[in-house]
Amino acid sequence: MKIINMKTNHIINPLGFDLGKPRLSFITCETLGVKQTAAQIQISLDEDFACMIFDSGKSKEIDSLAYEVTIELGAYTRYYWRVKVWADNGDVALSDSAWFETAKLDKHWSAKWITPEIDKNVHPVIIKEFPVSKEVKSVRAYVCGLGLYEMEINGVKAGEEYFTPHFNAYNKWLQYQTYDITELIKQGQNSVNVLLGNGWYKGRFGFEDNTREIYGDKFALLCEIIINYTDGTSAIINSDNTWKSRKSNILDSNIYDGEIYDATFNDLAVYDVHEIDLGFNKLKARLSLPVVIKEKIKPIEVIKTIDCETVLDMGQNMVGWIEFKTKAPKGTEIKLQFGEILQEGNFYRDNLRTAKAEYKYIANGDEAVVRPHFTFYGFRYVKVSGWQGEVKANDFTGCVLYSDMQQTGHIETSNPLVNKLFLNALWGQKGNFLDVPTDCPQRDERMGWTGDAQVFSGTACFNMDSYAFFSKYGYDLAKEQEDRNGMVPMVVPAVNVQGGGSSAWGEAATVIPWNVYLHYGDKSILKQQFKSMKAWVDYIKNEDTSSGGKRLWTTGFHFGDWLALDGDNPNLPTGGTDTQFIASAYYCYSSKVVAKAAKVLGDEKSAKEYDALSNEVKTAIIDEYFSKNGRITVNTQTAYIVALFMDLVPKEHKERVANDLRKKLKHDKNHLKTGFVGTPYLCRVLSENKCNDLAYTLLLNKDYPSWLYAVTMGATTIWERWNSVLPDGKISGTDMNSLNHYAYGSIVEWMYRYMAGINPVEDKPGFRQVRLAPQPDYRLKYVKASLNSAVGTYESQWELDEKGDLKFKFIIPFNATATLELPNAKLENVWVNGKPLKEANICASQCGKIVIADLTSGTWEFYYMPEEDYIKGYSTQMPMIEILANEEAKKVVIEYLPQIALLSSELLKKVGHESIRELSTKPFLIIASEILDKLDIKLNKIKISVE
Ligand code: BGC
Repeated sequence: MKIINMKTNHIINPLGFDLGKPRLSFITCETLGVKQTAAQIQISLDEDFACMIFDSGKSKEIDSLAYEVTIELGAYTRYYWRVKVWADNGDVALSDSAWFETAKLDKHWSAKWITPEIDKNVHPVIIKEFPVSKEVKSVRAYVCGLGLYEMEINGVKAGEEYFTPHFNAYNKWLQYQTYDITELIKQGQNSVNVLLGNGWYKGRFGFEDNTREIYGDKFALLCEIIINYTDGTSAIINSDNTWKSRKSNILDSNIYDGEIYDATFNDLAVYDVHEIDLGFNKLKARLSLPVVIKEKIKPIEVIKTIDCETVLDMGQNMVGWIEFKTKAPKGTEIKLQFGEILQEGNFYRDNLRTAKAEYKYIANGDEAVVRPHFTFYGFRYVKVSGWQGEVKANDFTGCVLYSDMQQTGHIETSNPLVNKLFLNALWGQKGNFLDVPTDCPQRDERMGWTGDAQVFSGTACFNMDSYAFFSKYGYDLAKEQEDRNGMVPMVVPAVNVQGGGSSAWGEAATVIPWNVYLHYGDKSILKQQFKSMKAWVDYIKNEDTSSGGKRLWTTGFHFGDWLALDGDNPNLPTGGTDTQFIASAYYCYSSKVVAKAAKVLGDEKSAKEYDALSNEVKTAIIDEYFSKNGRITVNTQTAYIVALFMDLVPKEHKERVANDLRKKLKHDKNHLKTGFVGTPYLCRVLSENKCNDLAYTLLLNKDYPSWLYAVTMGATTIWERWNSVLPDGKISGTDMNSLNHYAYGSIVEWMYRYMAGINPVEDKPGFRQVRLAPQPDYRLKYVKASLNSAVGTYESQWELDEKGDLKFKFIIPFNATATLELPNAKLENVWVNGKPLKEANICASQCGKIVIADLTSGTWEFYYMPEEDYIKGYSTQMPMIEILANEEAKKVVIEYLPQIALLSSELLKKVGHESIRELSTKPFLIIASEILDKLDIKLNKIKISVE
């Protein structure tokens, strides 16, 4: 037995974070035990646990998902902790030690904010030298630099992260970082150099009129270095007016346009700094995860374009920068430009709008490893100019930067296009989880759009451990609501973007914390966000007065089903679904989420209040939007989807609404038309409502509009629009057209939940229990999914063999349970781990066509012949074009119905998505039902082949 993944506040060994009351979590594995019977947590001031300050004792109450530390914490202190776990089979394990280290807590700053006496547009380096003459035990630096900073001690970069002090609502709070610089300090004279850049704080950013100096117009630094000597004494080096500054080699930088670095610039003039009053109240120990180089990739090709440009193809739309080594002669100007796609064989970047996205390096003749400091790019292609000699792929490295999250989920299927889709969504997350969940990483936007983050948050939590990332975003979001009367701005941090309060976007306040709670089982996210969640719903409640006492949300601007294909105003693509219907639906949904959160937090009064509110809204929606027989009066795909997903449909009409959705899709040739609101729930609603076949049809469609259309067009990330690139390879427009926009990547949540069947359950969150309900389909031969969840690793696999038998394999981690739902199964026919289920010691029952079984930790292999064939034969009920696409089936059809061969291709195009049976009553194709029955017998024998 082994204990792994020891985290504090869901971060491994956090240094200098604001931890509040720290929560410890861990995973126990490598045991045949099933349950934790007890655990013991110890905290010590030393690694050997000689100075123990806390011992929980052996306890049955310790929750491995979140154990709250109750001791009073001191500043500047590293706490070591370890845990011992007892399992029900007698196994016992003691963990290694993990640690967390506090920052300043409430200790006052003795350092001063300083700013260089240099033109505010010149990028400075702030410098200080200090002596060290005694043996050093430990050294820490507590630093905040504005806009962005990188610190070097004796010429070596401190820490491995970039873009400090991170991106947050700087007008409300500022994060300082803590560095352990013990190893960088030497005896004798030491130097600190802090390079400052514009970043989000003072560089060009945002998209309204005033896009510079949004948060401040001066570079500034605050730095305290505390040296602890082995003799027990200590010294402190504070930033103050004895520090100096120089002009740095960075001639210019900002997030959108890039960076210019002049290595020939060698102005040794030293300038004074002076103290400025930025105050200390806004300072807070960091919450942001470090943004680090998570991966490095090499160009797959150096392309000579038709216009004779030299372009690197990274083979992947990625976010970060290019690093290269050069020894170019002095004065050589090397320029890199970044773009997402080639057009007509040439470099292209018009869809980045005004973002220049460039890097310029002026060489000084010395060998150097070169990279930008205060900018990043979203790109697949890099145009290289000014390079001396041949451009070789190996000279360049793509550094992929994002917040330091661990990947937790993976999915593989028998269909390579589906696998690529999964990876594209994962890359969308890598590219857009750079401290803030952004809409896109490349054009003149890159902001924390709330709606995009909300719809993708479920997928994000499956893919990566996103707790700490979303916890910081939630903190920012709540701060932004404070002076907006609970209204959630369109983007968080709000930068200079006015307005907000749109449904689905504002739902970032409720949906994200709920998803995080569900995935990680730590209710402190709800505690942290509860005021904000409530404030958002209260904001809506204040807004709904205009609807004459009915609980509907009929006021304000809403983005609606953004970018859906059924709208008719291309200039305002809010889609075809009544935006007030969507707004009211979210009103109902969010109130329910607040009620559930209140319940978890033991606030029964709020739970009742918001539950009642949600029910009132539901009643009002039913009155306003449903006929008494259950017809939804808003006739769009998204309206049906939202109604079913958000539980707005009266029970007795559920089946009808699901059927209406089926009909609606059929009318739309079984292709989606949904935007930001409908897309994330589309397949989930289908699979949940007996239309799993349609969910797979939509997943597997390859023609526009579909998920796989982009994949077949060579996409390596998720596009903003269903047709960002047209079938002829031309970009469909430049106005709002990113090729790395994760919102539609939310299909991946369906893959985990329905294709692989791994579902968290609300009353045992953090995957302490799962509903394991995979829904196979004959169009995939197998699916293999794994999830390193908060309790441990789950695996869920299924395979449909040649005979049509179903095989499942599941791994349930230690201290977790699963309720398995085997589809299309008969209890008597199911085998588990080599013996009949009935003889196995498992609690199992038949519920309609489903066999339900309770599983505990372990490996489980199930096997049975499904009650109904999964491998389907052709039939007259299928769309005619699908039958005609198969030569053998086509032959049979023509043999029985020679008139089909005579139908014109235009007519086929028009009606081919309908089935032969449906068309059999049309004047151009009257067919007797006996013939159809005979044809079906023949067609059924031809099995639909799987790719
Ligand atoms: C962004 C989105 C965002 C939308 C809101 C766009 O410019 O890129 O993804 O949600 O605006 O309408």
